[in-house]
Amino acid sequence: MRHLTILTGASRGMGLAMAHQLLAQGHDLLCISRKTNDELAAQAARAGRQLEQWPQDLARAETAAARLETWLKGQEAAPPASVTLINNAGMIPRIAGLDAIPAAQLCDALRVGLEAPMLLTGAFLRGTAGWKAPRRVLNISSGLGRRAMAAQSAYCAAKAGMDHFTRCVALEQEREANGARICSLAPGVIDTDMQVQLRSADAANFPDQGNFIGLKEKGMLSSPEDAAQRVLAYLARPDFGSNPVADVRD
Ligand SMILES: NC(=O)c1ccc[n+]([C@@H]2O[C@H](COP(=O)([O-])OP(=O)(O)OC[C@H]3O[C@@H](n4cnc5c(N)ncnc54)[C@H](OP(=O)(O)O)[C@@H]3O)[C@@H](O)[C@H]2O)c1
Repeated sequence: MRHLTILTGASRGMGLAMAHQLLAQGHDLLCISRKTNDELAAQAARAGRQLEQWPQDLARAETAAARLETWLKGQEAAPPASVTLINNAGMIPRIAGLDAIPAAQLCDALRVGLEAPMLLTGAFLRGTAGWKAPRRVLNISSGLGRRAMAAQSAYCAAKAGMDHFTRCVALEQEREANGARICSLAPGVIDTDMQVQLRSADAANFPDQGNFIGLKEKGMLSSPEDAAQRVLAYLARPDFGSNPVADVRD
């Protein structure tokens, strides 16, 4: 039985760990990030799984969204047993007050963190409309979508927007015959490049920097592999989507 997952930000961090685990579970994958990953290509070849990697900048997501819709419509002839979109890519712009974030970085953070997940979700819903297979959308959110933090306005706003658009789409999909189940999930605190960026920020601009250093020193970060496993276990739950905004730690 063929299961298909579309995953953004699979080139490194938790996304890469999810991609490895999904391939190991026998999923076919379409991965979208700026860079491709050779280890994934090798794993897919060994396992005989279908893997596509599209090098796309999700700060300019219209192209990727249009391409995704067309590509999904092309799968209709041999539809998979299930289809899932995981909006995982994210970025933090310069860690500073809003008045000190360069405009281009602010735009990119909002586009990658909010505009791209909305465009890709819309394309996914259109591209799989009428499919009989279970359809799922997992948006990777953050505790910071629910808790304000100085020097994180763009990231917090993108994640809060992600949570709220997810609530709206969940209400829309409830009305459909084979509506997609959708959830915006906070994955915990993970030892990736994003945490390196937080720890190495300028403390003068970032009152919480010491807390992030403390989390690492006390060994409180999840490994990307453990975080991926918990997130994918949440996605596999029979009640996935019953709560459109959730946290793996709940
Ligand atoms: N790490 C944490 O503690 C933590 C906590 C809560 C939530 N999260 C969320 O978990 C998700 C994964 O985070 P992570 O820690 O694994 O991050 P990461 O290690 O920094 O990886 C980010 C991923 O997003 C992709 N990405 C970034 N900018 C992109 C762009 N312009 N276009 C396309 N892809 C782009 C990157 O790929 P390329 O560079 O190849 O483009 C990379 O694969 C994010 O949504 C993050 O907000 C993380």
